[in-house]
Amino acid sequence: MRAISLFPAVVLCAALSAGAMLLGARDVQAQQAGGSAAPDPHAAPAGGLSQSDIARMLPATDMGAGAARAGNTHQASMSDSPATPFDAASIPANPLAPNADAIGAKSCVACHAQENVQASHTLHVASFRAGAANTGPQAACESCHGPGSGHAKDPTAPGLIIAFTHDAKTSPQVQAGVCLSCHAGGARQHWIGSIHQNRGLSCTDCHNPMARLSPEGVLAKSSINEVCATCHQDIRAKFNRRSHMPLPEGQMACTDCHNPHGSITRPLLKTDTVNETCYTCHAEKRGPFLFEHAPVRQNCLNCHDVHGSNQQTLLVAPIPMLCQQCHTMTRHPNDLQSAANLGTGPFPDERLMGRGCLSCHANIHGSNNPSGPKFHK
Ligand code: HEC
Ligand code: HEC
Ligand code: HEC
Ligand code: HEC
Ligand code: HEC
Ligand code: HEC
Ligand code: HEC
Ligand code: HEC
Ligand code: HEC
Ligand code: HEC
Repeated sequence: MRAISLFPAVVLCAALSAGAMLLGARDVQAQQAGGSAAPDPHAAPAGGLSQSDIARMLPATDMGAGAARAGNTHQASMSDSPATPFDAASIPANPLAPNADAIGAKSCVACHAQENVQASHTLHVASFRAGAANTGPQAACESCHGPGSGHAKDPTAPGLIIAFTHDAKTSPQVQAGVCLSCHAGGARQHWIGSIHQNRGLSCTDCHNPMARLSPEGVLAKSSINEVCATCHQDIRAKFNRRSHMPLPEGQMACTDCHNPHGSITRPLLKTDTVNETCYTCHAEKRGPFLFEHAPVRQNCLNCHDVHGSNQQTLLVAPIPMLCQQCHTMTRHPNDLQSAANLGTGPFPDERLMGRGCLSCHANIHGSNNPSGPKFHK
């Protein structure tokens, strides 16, 4: 029992001494800046991390949409509307507590020791504490939760503090507005009016900045796919079918194709068309081909179910039925190639028996061979 009650104090001491080290580190950097050797921009500083160190060392996430993605994805995501820096944080207004004033993180922590222990490990709170030049480390909590004087006087009155849960009095618009004050634009350019925004989702349905649950992205679950699966269980389940892209294996995420923050392409696709989405990984299917197969150019989904299928290679129907949806009157028998259906009678050519269309029309996505107009080659 005693050990438990001591824990916050220990963390606080650790935080304080880390803070002291930080001040030291910055002095050292200031001195180095006057020196002659050019500093390595990616080196971790000797003493501790400042806010700009943290920003510099963050992994680049790739939530870019459309054209931005076509080029160098890393460059694109980095030039893609960076967040307002931590030291430009302002205390957001709370429309339900218009007269409240900021009271500082020490006061919040006095009553919320447990939340403080969790939050102290997170990107935002750690960064606010490390170097919030504008507001100072005392704004570490109120930069998101708004001014707290009203709430501190009457903690059980709902709405007096900006809260980020669905049963909170704070409206989803105000909740999202807090995050968007630093994260507008870029991947979130089309958040307003997106299907997720329209259905009353807030940023914190998918993100939880109060605890470190995911290695990247400040997510509410340990991975992107788990976040989406909380609501889209049906789609996630399709990836368990016999044929699927390697998403359950952890090599792909829903966000490889979708931008959950909104996009101009239904349904929340990152690129302008379905086919452009597929070409980002299956570039060889882009063509151009000498002999194009019309349905391939039109839409990959004519034949494939991207989320998973029990047919081979994600097909929407088995072969030959898939082909026969569009081709019936071909110049050769094109039913299932059973003994009865092959014109050669009771002793058909066994090289044809049981074969699907693909054994002859192998290059179904298009052919560059001069003698491949029927996609044989
Ligand atoms: C005097 C003690 C006290 C202080 C100071 C205090 N809180 Fe609270 N806070 C509480 C209590 C108690 C609750 C739980 C209220 C309830 O369950 O109805 C609470 C609830 C909350 C909630 C959840 C509200 C909701 O509607 O779900 C948030 C967020 C919060 N506090 C943040 C803060 C922040 C940020 C500060 C500093 C600006 C702060 N608190 C200062 C006592 C305090
Ligand atoms: C980056 C923005 C941000 C910062 C900074 C922040 N919080 Fe939070 N806080 C949130 C969000 C979002 C939630 C809702 C988390 C969830 O989905 O359960 C939350 C939830 C809470 C709750 C309610 C917990 C519950 O279970 O209902 C309390 C209390 C709280 N924060 C206190 C603090 C304190 C104290 C600090 C400063 C040490 C702080 N917060 C800093 C965003 C923030
Ligand atoms: C005062 C400005 C500010 C506020 C308010 C703020 N953030 Fe951030 N956030 C930042 C900065 C700065 C970064 C780090 C730079 C970056 O990743 O672009 C960041 C990073 C992130 C990241 C990316 C982390 C990663 O691993 O790439 C997510 C996700 C995020 N914030 C979500 C939120 C959510 C959700 C809220 C609201 C509850 C919020 N932020 C509020 C400034 C802010
Ligand atoms: C439906 C789920 C969902 C919602 C709602 C959502 N996000 Fe995200 N967000 C994600 C996922 C998934 C990622 C990708 C994380 C990664 O790549 O590690 C992400 C990435 C981010 C990033 C880091 C990458 C970047 O673009 O800089 C930020 C910042 C961010 N979200 C902020 C927000 C804000 C602000 C809101 C509310 C307006 C919001 N998100 C709403 C799921 C969501
Ligand atoms: C909190 C629940 C929730 C979470 C988490 C969530 N979604 Fe959704 N999503 C919805 C709702 C609700 C709809 C609207 C469904 C409808 O109208 O049929 C929707 C719709 C969609 C659509 C269809 C859009 C359209 O135009 O038809 C896509 C794509 C989508 N979500 C992707 C994602 C991805 C990717 C994630 C994870 C990053 C995610 N969602 C996480 C609730 C959620
Ligand atoms: C390889 C790209 C890709 C991946 C990965 C992917 N999707 Fe999709 N998703 C699509 C395409 C393309 C469509 C359009 C389907 C259509 O128009 O019939 C779509 C449609 C949707 C829809 C709306 C239509 C429907 O079928 O209900 C939802 C919701 C959705 N996806 C969620 C998800 C979720 C959740 C994940 C992760 C578990 C995911 N998607 C992974 C490409 C992808
Ligand atoms: C983020 C990269 C990515 C995107 C985008 C993508 N794929 Fe894939 N796809 C893969 C990977 C990886 C595999 C597995 C390749 C392997 O196992 O050799 C795969 C496999 C496939 C397969 C073969 C499945 C099997 O069972 O053999 C088909 C068909 C397919 N993808 C169609 C599509 C279509 C259609 C789209 C667009 C809606 C698309 N892919 C978008 C990465 C992607
Ligand atoms: C006319 C139907 C049809 C359309 C449209 C179609 N495919 Fe296919 N695809 C197939 C068939 C049939 C196979 C199985 C080939 C095999 O097993 O030899 C296949 C296999 C694949 C494979 C796995 C084997 C390989 O060739 O790499 C990928 C990846 C693929 N398709 C991607 C795409 C993409 C991307 C598009 C859109 C540009 C697309 N397909 C459009 C019928 C189609
Ligand atoms: C969604 C409809 C659709 C599906 C499904 C489809 N095709 Fe096609 N296919 C077409 C169209 C349209 C053309 C172009 C016809 C033309 O140019 O006269 C075509 C052309 C062809 C040609 C060349 C015909 C010629 O006269 O040059 C062959 C061979 C062919 N398809 C085989 C297949 C096979 C095998 C499958 C199944 C794997 C298949 N197609 C699935 C619509 C489809
Ligand atoms: C044993 C090899 C073989 C198989 C199996 C086969 N084809 Fe063909 N197909 C051909 C050849 C050879 C031609 C060219 C005939 C010509 O030019 O007179 C052709 C031509 C076609 C054409 C274009 C000519 C036309 O009639 O307009 C279509 C469409 C076609 N096949 C579809 C199919 C479909 C669908 C299947 C499966 C049900 C299939 N083929 C199975 C060898 C085959």
